[in-house]
Amino acid sequence: MIKEILLTTLRNKETSRDEFRHAAQQLAEIVIFEVADLLPTKEVSIDTPLAPTQGIAYLHAPILIPILRSGFALLPSSVKYFPQSPIGFVGFKRDEQTTQPRYYYSNIPTIAPHDTVVILDPMLATGGTLNATIRLLKEQGVPEEHIIFVGIIAAKQGVERIHTTFPHVRLILAAIDNELNAQSYIIPGLGDFGDRYFGTE
Ligand code: URA
Repeated sequence: MIKEILLTTLRNKETSRDEFRHAAQQLAEIVIFEVADLLPTKEVSIDTPLAPTQGIAYLHAPILIPILRSGFALLPSSVKYFPQSPIGFVGFKRDEQTTQPRYYYSNIPTIAPHDTVVILDPMLATGGTLNATIRLLKEQGVPEEHIIFVGIIAAKQGVERIHTTFPHVRLILAAIDNELNAQSYIIPGLGDFGDRYFGTE
């Protein structure tokens, strides 16, 4: 229920910037939290102040890749759970004429064969940007099985595109909406996430 309440705040056009940021932060924590269940862990032996015992730890911290600019909004919550994670950046700008993503920047840390890569972007619309980001990672040798996408709202069409093209990439989302409009905005969606979060409406 908490997810739906936070989503309602994000979707509501009357929500102020501070309320929007706060709800986005809280929802980001919920979706990021789900990444933890998909990461490989190892058993560890530790000592409490009173006795030795067994516990678990992540095998490797995941590599976090926010897609500029909106993916930046998911970074504080991700770093909270994965404080040791290396962070890379991928930059795509939406061409307002064609609605296609235009690549302009990437800075990706060295990725080892065992690493899990978590791509962060709150909105998955046509799937064009995510498609291009996954291709970039695959070109660097990252297997699909090691890629997780974390977002807040997706369009059904974008989800289907990613599932069809990269069936082994896992998607974590708070909601899937049914439609895209002619400008490739998600309907009902929440409008332009970056504009509302960063205050550039
Ligand atoms: N990006 C957004 O911010 N909103 C959408 O609806 C689609 C892409």
